[in-house]
Amino acid sequence: MSEHFDTIILGAGGAGLMAAATAGQRGARVLLLDHADAPGKKILISGGGRCNFTNLNPRAECYLSQNPHFAKSAMSRYTQHDFIALVERHGIAWHEKTLGQLFCDGSARQIVAMLLAECESGGVDMRLSMPIEEVACEESGFRVSSGGKQFRAGSLVVATGGPSIPKMGATGFAYDVARQFGLKVVEPRPALVPLTLGREEALFRDLSGVAAPVVVRCDKTTFREAALFTHKGLSGPAILQISSYWKPGQAISIDFVPELGADFLAVLKKSNPAQLARKALIGLLPERLVEALCVRTGLDGRLGDLKDGFLSSVSQRLHDWTFQPNGTEGFAKAEVTIGGVSTAELSSRTMEAKSVPGLFFIGEGVDVTGWLGGYNFQWAWASGVAAGEAV
Ligand code: FDA
Repeated sequence: MSEHFDTIILGAGGAGLMAAATAGQRGARVLLLDHADAPGKKILISGGGRCNFTNLNPRAECYLSQNPHFAKSAMSRYTQHDFIALVERHGIAWHEKTLGQLFCDGSARQIVAMLLAECESGGVDMRLSMPIEEVACEESGFRVSSGGKQFRAGSLVVATGGPSIPKMGATGFAYDVARQFGLKVVEPRPALVPLTLGREEALFRDLSGVAAPVVVRCDKTTFREAALFTHKGLSGPAILQISSYWKPGQAISIDFVPELGADFLAVLKKSNPAQLARKALIGLLPERLVEALCVRTGLDGRLGDLKDGFLSSVSQRLHDWTFQPNGTEGFAKAEVTIGGVSTAELSSRTMEAKSVPGLFFIGEGVDVTGWLGGYNFQWAWASGVAAGEAV
């Protein structure tokens, strides 16, 4: 005995809920399956519980993918303004925190409630605590075995996300399905993840808990945001952002004094030679960081007693503090996964696999990864709508 639907959607996260609501509201009979006991768990913990649900300025450069143009089609047809309009229709108050990042005034629970209400108005049949045992392609469509039952539908949407934060039930299931159907998967790796440091970088580890606004650089990519020192290495928005671009073996550089000129210590010496060098830095940077940087650079004594050449070299070092992380905190701590189902395999308009009619991949499982700041949810909503309109 099997139950029949027009479409089956695997994964009730942001992308799956959006696709289900869209397809249901178009009149499709939709089954939404998830192995978790509640929908939208990552939405609930996102943005410190307030969900950074979109960004006012999602441009192509904010997404990493082997094909940087892939996301443009879906994102131009379902924009941040469409999602804001939906949020407002549901009476959810929101605010811009910084850098175009939009958060709920209240709670991320409001976003999940909104998506569930949208699914309900589309008559979506959502079933939770349903582990997926098998996915198969048949003449008339797809068969999914789940929770000891058989479900059949003409189309199948895989919205099971990526493997970041496995303890929340995240899996690489989307990749397994892709490989089962012969589709390429771009090597997944953790992104938006804290970086770890070896013993030789003890300077940073001693500073656990200290945060500072910096410019961080990896190769040609830079971010100007806060860095946070942790007992394992570095975190904070600047580091999470650059982690998406970092590959093992690469160096990272931090500019601790991005607002100041190249030779700022020599300039300070001229204006106030009697000032202690470390005093000159306090006020510009957190005191514990200043102490550590002074020990590492040998900066000590009155500015007027120090040679210009020495001050220049210290200024330069503070502008370009280069070090080599020895790794990341991995999928256990990564907010997202880079890589995934290759965009070369999918239609950028519908998210349907080019070689497997009726099979769709959306959300984080696809090789499209946004910066920190609401970009990943905007991709989840837009790719979900693209598939929901096409199934
Ligand atoms: P998502 O992972 O949300 O959903 C996948 C669903 O599939 C889950 O419900 C899961 O249970 C289910 N599933 C997985 N494997 C399965 C299997 N084998 N069988 C059945 N079901 C399965 N982004 C952003 O834009 N703004 C933000 O504020 C944040 N904040 C944030 C904080 C933290 C701590 C994390 C970990 C992540 C964020 N993100 C974020 C990223 C954002 O959460 C992420 O990009 C989206 O949730 C991806 O949505 P998806 O629907 O693709 O996957």
